[in-house]
Amino acid sequence: MKKILLVGCGHMGSALLFSWLKKTSFNFSVIDPYNYKNIKQKFSKKISTFKTIDEIYDINKFDIIIFAIKPQIAKKVIEKFNLISKKNILFISIIAGKKFSFFNRYLNSKQQIVRVMPNMPVFVEKGMSCLVSNTLTTRKNKKTSKELFEKIGKAIWLKKESDLDKVTAISGSGPAYFFLFVEYLESIAKELGFTSLIARQLVYQTAIGSIELLLQDKKNAKQLKESIAVQGGTTEAAISIFEKKSQFKKTIRSAIKAAYNRSIKLGKT
Ligand SMILES: NC(=O)c1ccc[n+]([C@@H]2O[C@H](COP(=O)([O-])OP(=O)(O)OC[C@H]3O[C@@H](n4cnc5c(N)ncnc54)[C@H](OP(=O)(O)O)[C@@H]3O)[C@@H](O)[C@H]2O)c1
Repeated sequence: MKKILLVGCGHMGSALLFSWLKKTSFNFSVIDPYNYKNIKQKFSKKISTFKTIDEIYDINKFDIIIFAIKPQIAKKVIEKFNLISKKNILFISIIAGKKFSFFNRYLNSKQQIVRVMPNMPVFVEKGMSCLVSNTLTTRKNKKTSKELFEKIGKAIWLKKESDLDKVTAISGSGPAYFFLFVEYLESIAKELGFTSLIARQLVYQTAIGSIELLLQDKKNAKQLKESIAVQGGTTEAAISIFEKKSQFKKTIRSAIKAAYNRSIKLGKT
């Protein structure tokens, strides 16, 4: 059974852990300096938890080490892993922006590294994860890493490491964009006089139904939109405001570019 060490168990780390515990039989250990006490209670007594790496007797016993920490503390945390001497440990990083060159600089020797950009729906096993591997990663470890993320949603390989910054801005941060739209629709439904319960039902079911339709129908999003927004109708009245001078598209474009640029910038810190 594979031994996996998860370093950082915050929003994303705990979403991954929660779903992997349901979907895999791997043996998990976790390092998290503040949450370590609650993790056993929250997830499973079977998990070994540590405050720091110094508490781990044999760090070389792990098959996979996953970094799920903030980019801002990555250097401080990762350089502690330069104690690792075993060659066939697979490192997986979900840290936004931090490149293979960063890991090569702070780990003792060149290691097998797979960088992954998952997203929050991994919590409900509907994640979108994009992977890139460095040249040292064996075929077997590439297969293992893809399988790990396929257990909790869709997982695809990207060819270029630089594509991860783009993916971060689209699918990594993407759930928050959808939540923002849902938040606004819900709030405006309430402004129109609906109760919170009804506003929520209207918006959630519309979101679920629309995505399901998009998946099942042969038409793409633009065609489906046009099929609803018929001339002179109510939807067209709303869409013509959204699309006035392409303002909505321009706002979305500059928001995505801000996320993309932030990912590039975080990689340089
Ligand atoms: N959130 C997302 O949707 C998402 C999506 C894709 C990728 N990511 C990436 O995932 C990474 C984690 O993001 P997040 O949202 O999960 O952040 P987070 O909630 O802040 O989680 C990071 C966790 O690491 C802990 N930590 C702090 N110092 C540590 C140390 N020395 N050793 C081990 N753990 C330590 C933090 O504890 P404290 O909070 O107590 O400091 C926290 O529990 C980021 O690099 C982000 O780019 C996130």
